[in-house]
Amino acid sequence: MERRAQELLITEMIRSLGASLKNRGLYPPSHPQVKSPVEKVFKDLRVFFADRDELALAISDGTLVFEGYPIFNLTSPLEFFVGRLTRIGAPAVIFGKHLTLEDLEIFIRFLHETKEQGLSPREIQKLLVQAGIAHIRVKPIEENDQDDKAIANEIYTNAVSVVTSAMMDVRMGRIPSGAESERVTRDISSMLTRNRDAMMALTLIKNFDEYTYTHSVNVAVMALAVADAMRLSAPDKINVGVAGLLHDIGKTQLALDLIRKPSTLTVEEFEEIKKHPQEGFVLLGKMSHIRPDSAYIVLEHHLRFDQSGYPPQSKGYQSHEHSNIIPVADCYDALTTMRSYQKARYPQQALEIMSKLAGKSLDPYVVSVISKTLGAYPVGTMVRLNTMEIALVVGQGGADEESPKVVVIVDRNGNPLPSPEHVDLSEPEGTDDGHRRSILATVNPNLYSSVAAGALSATLELA
Ligand SMILES: [Fe+2]
Ligand SMILES: [Fe+2]
Repeated sequence: MERRAQELLITEMIRSLGASLKNRGLYPPSHPQVKSPVEKVFKDLRVFFADRDELALAISDGTLVFEGYPIFNLTSPLEFFVGRLTRIGAPAVIFGKHLTLEDLEIFIRFLHETKEQGLSPREIQKLLVQAGIAHIRVKPIEENDQDDKAIANEIYTNAVSVVTSAMMDVRMGRIPSGAESERVTRDISSMLTRNRDAMMALTLIKNFDEYTYTHSVNVAVMALAVADAMRLSAPDKINVGVAGLLHDIGKTQLALDLIRKPSTLTVEEFEEIKKHPQEGFVLLGKMSHIRPDSAYIVLEHHLRFDQSGYPPQSKGYQSHEHSNIIPVADCYDALTTMRSYQKARYPQQALEIMSKLAGKSLDPYVVSVISKTLGAYPVGTMVRLNTMEIALVVGQGGADEESPKVVVIVDRNGNPLPSPEHVDLSEPEGTDDGHRRSILATVNPNLYSSVAAGALSATLELA
């Protein structure tokens, strides 16, 4: 089909979908004014799918874009359809070849009935699957993905340097301003909303030399993601995030060799370490731009859910309502990091350990939220695919948490791939022999850690 003909056909289809959607508000669903435009679109799509597998339409600034070109002639039913889609939040919608008339009808009903606004593509995708729509997908616009990675990277690097200089300041006897900490926390929080995978993937950087700093940022990122899932208000999220960033700042008051000691601590040494939440509380209290909430959350980050931790509190002590988040994020990052005295647990192992700590040191509700937030295969999990290839999970897929985004790093014969291959397991794209890739099992990441580290920096473009 010729380009111009394609565009006319698309315009015609969008117009019909708009008409049907508009008429949904006026007539019952079975009315011909609602039904026949959809049936017409279904027929038109057959023509379209004669020589291709999908129709992807992007929406940019309220304009419909097909294969990079804007389709300008927006008439009112067209605008109605695009307007509704934009309001719900879908930046791109993809109709697959095997679409049924029912898919289309439910899709119109979905657009008609969905009252939520500004949903993320992942949330919309989940709703589409719940509604039973099999061959219509939404996704974020591809081109943005590279930009997002670069921005996320910049935010992460920035956050590390903010923590580093705050801690250096304290060691030099100065009280740093909290303004920078607050600003990077806001940046992390908005990046998580914009592209969660891009931001979360960076928490996989486990730099041993800079452990204290990257750990602080990782805890902030993870805590903000959890706070988001718990639907905390924006100011509450920032309080938690800032506390995450600065939770261990009190360690600056301890001797360096004590913090870096690779072996088990003596009783006396541990008594020293136990002072850092209180020291942190005092420091945060002196910093500008830091809310008392953040200071209390720092004070209580080792208090434990059953209050058996430190600093010891009197019976019946009321801890801050949001001081249950940092301990969970702290524990996850510590468990998944390789230290001189500890092997790195892989994400699922870490979550298993944490579920055993739930109700004792960790708040069971927050543990359940983090497990849900990270999904069945958290970013960083190493998996074996049905093709016997080894892959690293780098992002969540669409609605199906069993099908994340991965990079294949080792081929079926056990040889590292010269350049890792990106695969979205939720996309119906096949392998050479036409079989869809899927996850068979998780594998021990220590077996492939060097290949994975290389793949990871290539993926995050840090190399
Ligand atoms: Fe701590
Ligand atoms: Fe920590």
